[in-house]
Amino acid sequence: MCYADKKLSETKVFKDPVHRYIHVDDQVVWDLVGTAEFQRLRRIKQLGTTYTTFHGAEHSRFGHSLGVYEIIRRMIDDVFTGREGWNPADRLLCLCAALLHDVGHGPFSHSFEKVFAVDHEEFTQRMIVGDTEINNVLKQVSTEFPQQVADIIGKKSNNKLAISMISSQIDADRMDYLLRDAYFTGVSYGKFDLERLLRVMRPLPQGIAVKKSGMHAVEHYIISRYQMYWQVYFHPVTRSAEVLLNSIFKRVRYLYQEEYRFQHQPVHFYSIFDGKISVEDYLQLDENIMMYYFQVWQKEDDTILADLCRRFLHRHLLKYVDFTDDFQKNNWVELEHLCKKAEIDPKYYVVVDSISDLPYDFYRSEDDDGCQPILLLMPDGKLRELSRESHLVEAMSRKEQTDRKLYYPYEMIDDNTHHTEMKSKIRRILDRSK
Ligand code: NI
Repeated sequence: MCYADKKLSETKVFKDPVHRYIHVDDQVVWDLVGTAEFQRLRRIKQLGTTYTTFHGAEHSRFGHSLGVYEIIRRMIDDVFTGREGWNPADRLLCLCAALLHDVGHGPFSHSFEKVFAVDHEEFTQRMIVGDTEINNVLKQVSTEFPQQVADIIGKKSNNKLAISMISSQIDADRMDYLLRDAYFTGVSYGKFDLERLLRVMRPLPQGIAVKKSGMHAVEHYIISRYQMYWQVYFHPVTRSAEVLLNSIFKRVRYLYQEEYRFQHQPVHFYSIFDGKISVEDYLQLDENIMMYYFQVWQKEDDTILADLCRRFLHRHLLKYVDFTDDFQKNNWVELEHLCKKAEIDPKYYVVVDSISDLPYDFYRSEDDDGCQPILLLMPDGKLRELSRESHLVEAMSRKEQTDRKLYYPYEMIDDNTHHTEMKSKIRRILDRSK
């Protein structure tokens, strides 16, 4: 029997808090789970700094990746198999793409990628087609197989159905992370009926479609997503921790460029600073290594770096106010100026963070780089884009919501030891925004 079809002598199961059990029958999948690159995901948290707000959110990308795999496995084995529109030869391809879709994530991806211009999607591709343990497993299936898996994840394949299963408005990735993140944060709004959603999905050449009779289950899923974004993912306190991380990374890069003499040389960062990071170097980076550096940098002579690290580790976060257009127009320049005078470097300590989201983003035109929309399969066999059928979804997709916050170091402007006059001016400006 060829490697692609090889089954384990008995099903392996992982106990999982979201799906109860995750089942593995395929030798290829089992071998992928055992690679160093996949095991590294245990050391990267799924939700980055969210644990500073919701202390339960310590779960890793390892569990999420297994969860996405399990949803795809059930979609194929319990719903798609035997149906017209499903090609059984795509099963292993979809399972591997699901399992590996996040393998290129770095530590605290959000800030890390922003500051160092690293792209986790690019690293996912490189880990699949480069010289890695994952590649060694995949190429035993066939020489083209690694590239085929990478093309599904990178949305470059012609296989639209496989892409929509992993990456669309209603893909296995979103379905797992909403349920998983709701479970670990302990909130009650991320839930929806996964079982029912899977049951009403149908495989079509252009992607997954949902039977019209399942529309209300889809609406529930979209409301859950909306709630999770605004109540969990965009939580202003989590973003405050994120702002600190950004500042730490920016400061450490600046110090390196200025040839500052670190007591603890950031050797793991050198190739990133120099803009030529190899897959091998990238694999060394996980959140444990980051935390080690934050620990030792607390003792650095550079007071900004030491202070930022202390704040991050001990959760002395920055406070925030709403940052309105009015505030920007009337107060922003003056505020930056006063902070500099009071020796608070606004580059690291006074930061505007802006986020926005459209709860459901349907295609406006063929040229849009948006996600594949949700298609309803009508009783007459025709397809209709969801928001044309659901008033609720139509209303939710009308307006993009934006939230802008100004983060600042409350204690620094509140202590009266230095620059008292400046600081009270700064306080007055911030009070205007409350
Ligand atoms: Ni994911």
